[in-house]
Amino acid sequence: MKRIVVFTGAGMSAESGLSTFRDKGGLWDKYDISQVATPEAFARDPEMVLEFYNIRRRELLNVKPNDGHKALVEWEQKAEVHIITQNIDDLHERAGSTHVLHLHGELRKARSTADENLIIEIDGSELVLGDLCPLGSQLRPHVVWFGEEVPEMLRAEEIVAQADVLVVVGTSLNVYPAAGLLWCVAPGTPIWLIDPNPISLPGDLGITHLMQKAGEALPNLIIAN
Ligand code: OAD
Repeated sequence: MKRIVVFTGAGMSAESGLSTFRDKGGLWDKYDISQVATPEAFARDPEMVLEFYNIRRRELLNVKPNDGHKALVEWEQKAEVHIITQNIDDLHERAGSTHVLHLHGELRKARSTADENLIIEIDGSELVLGDLCPLGSQLRPHVVWFGEEVPEMLRAEEIVAQADVLVVVGTSLNVYPAAGLLWCVAPGTPIWLIDPNPISLPGDLGITHLMQKAGEALPNLIIAN
């Protein structure tokens, strides 16, 4: 069976109604990264940071997987599909994809500020000051903030290195180390890029760019044969 690796970003969930980060009117137009997505911000104003993610969680509870997410589930009938996502939403899992690796964490989970391995599911949408882990420490969102390590990076690099095909969907490829995954493919591996907007990439990776939305392109992409 062909091994297809799909690397997704915020554009994957755009048609479900979730904002991307860097498109016009995106999240980073409305919020300052340094105020809501760094360890320093959490130390300075934890309530503001927790609320930023509570808003994201409330939105997530009101949206559904789109045709793009569903197409990737269909591909599992014909191929071994591994999804590596920068998204913290759970729409790939809710659609039914089996192998999903979250590079930047998961919105529906919280973790202890005393022990990073102590991770719990959040019941509902709210994580507030005073919500404690079993050790008695404040819980924080289980997300990777700017300036933090990406613990799953090595695993992601290994998965990409084994790909027969790499399909990149809805990411501006602005954020490293995640964007560096494109350079982890074995030489000669075909790379498809699905994004309705132009993406500038350093170097020549021989990428085929389909300038379409995920929900339009993925159901029609026959990649498994
Ligand atoms: P961006 O907002 O940077 O890029 C979203 C991409 O999706 C853009 O290239 C859009 O053109 C494209 N897009 C928009 N609508 C689309 C659609 N319907 N179908 C396909 N593509 C579409 O988001 P990411 O690249 O995911 O990290 O951002 C990477 C990281 O930056 C995020 O994981 C987050 C953010 O800061 C952290 O918070 C650590």
